[in-house]
Amino acid sequence: MGQTQLDWWRSAVIYQIYPRSFADANGDGIGDLPGITSRLGSLKSLGIDAVWLSPFMRSPQKDAGYDVSDYCDVDPLFGTLDDFDRLLATAHSLGLRVLIDLVPNHTSDQHEWFKRAVAAGPGSPEREFYHFRDGDAPPNNWQSMFGGPAWTQLPDGQWYCHLFDSSQPDLNWENPKVQEAFEDILRFWLDRGVDGFRVDQPHAMGKAKGLPDHPDVERAGAGFIEGEPSPPMWFQESVHPIFRKWRAILESYPGQRAMCGEAYVLPLSFMALWVRPDEFHQTFNFRYLDSPWTAKDIRKTIDESFDAFGAVGAPSTWVLSNHDVMRHASRMGGDFGRTTASDGVGPNDPQPDAELGLKRALAATLFTLGLPGSMYLYQGEELGLPEHTTLEPEFRQDPTFARTNGARVGRDGCRVPLPWESNVNESSGFNQTGKSWLPQPAAYANYARDLQEGVEGSTLETYKWALAKRKELNLGHGTFEWAEDLCSESVLAYRNRSLLVIHNFETNETTWKLDS
Ligand code: GLC
Ligand code: CA
Repeated sequence: MGQTQLDWWRSAVIYQIYPRSFADANGDGIGDLPGITSRLGSLKSLGIDAVWLSPFMRSPQKDAGYDVSDYCDVDPLFGTLDDFDRLLATAHSLGLRVLIDLVPNHTSDQHEWFKRAVAAGPGSPEREFYHFRDGDAPPNNWQSMFGGPAWTQLPDGQWYCHLFDSSQPDLNWENPKVQEAFEDILRFWLDRGVDGFRVDQPHAMGKAKGLPDHPDVERAGAGFIEGEPSPPMWFQESVHPIFRKWRAILESYPGQRAMCGEAYVLPLSFMALWVRPDEFHQTFNFRYLDSPWTAKDIRKTIDESFDAFGAVGAPSTWVLSNHDVMRHASRMGGDFGRTTASDGVGPNDPQPDAELGLKRALAATLFTLGLPGSMYLYQGEELGLPEHTTLEPEFRQDPTFARTNGARVGRDGCRVPLPWESNVNESSGFNQTGKSWLPQPAAYANYARDLQEGVEGSTLETYKWALAKRKELNLGHGTFEWAEDLCSESVLAYRNRSLLVIHNFETNETTWKLDS
């Protein structure tokens, strides 16, 4: 077997499915596993290699499933384990691999482990599963990523730590029992046949001993400042042995299982430590996602990516959209910095230019699809879907909205159900009933898949064409070289094998004369 087949993940195009918004088979307004299974054929025809499913495990859905109450069962909202097995078998019969989302930094407060810890009381071994502390005030100055303090007090006086919502208590990864429990969870899904995992917030799992204050909370808030020493809740060294163990578990199974870490670690030379040959197979390249779309920034980012990942023998990944940031078709239609992009845009904010945004986004995607490495696509981008930027407050579900009293509208705008068939009903064929857990903006009907299928020049057909070319020329496993003679302040050009890609970052018309 050649390397191409052996290391599928090095070049794969992986499509992110957000289950609650992909396709709804039973018509209750929330996407489900049977809905996904029924539409897998359309992903096959798009030309992708694998799908990653955001969480569908049992969950009270306080953070859209990233608050898991049972890691080894399917939430009834999405179906059953049998439905999952059918999904997996169908995907495999189509030649698509399936990665699932694993959320190890925190559980739901409705998980048995947390319920037992609360019941068992202070000082019990059950409380050692999480970070509990005594005190009259929060034990330190840590902030939640969703706003407000990272500590909540129980009626018995102890506080528990949560870097996200108060319904998402952080696990104590120093506890060997937590480590063993997750190894069992990995095996549970690997035995079922999944091809790997997307791992949520792996850089949050380790906490510095004694849980000291964040040294720069005024400037960094809940996050970190690039180039400064790691704050006590991010990128602790103690997590790396855990991932080495997981890698060994994956490798003990046949069939090239792989894991991708959502390691938000910068600079990329630091992130590269996470993809050393015995740790994660890949991580999301957040630098690329965050970069302003200018020739200067993108050139710097691409150079940094190849340098950093190349140094440890890992492929770079490329990503422009996901379920946590403003869709790139809208992001590129206005002046939306990284912060606004992940905090969302609401009806009272400046609105993107949809036409310009889509043109730029499509050009950005084509530019990106020519790069060697692995590419992540987010459901709906192949339709050119814009963000829902006028969603009314009463529909907001992202905990960020409530925790900041609406100051940050949150991420719901990129999570709206997909339009499949124009004008069949109010949800554009997301289901048979027209119900939808978040309302689609009126414009979505114009982006429906059936209007684009087979239509030359549509966003969908352009994606298909580019994905087919990528496969035909084996670009994922290809080579990269700047075509210096064609690059300028506003133009980037590169070669990958026999392909020449030229991208004009400005809106003015430019022509090129090519030698051959
Ligand atoms: C990750 C997920 C995000 C979630 C958070 C907490 O960043 O992508 O959706 O809210 O982790 O689990
Ligand atoms: Ca449903």
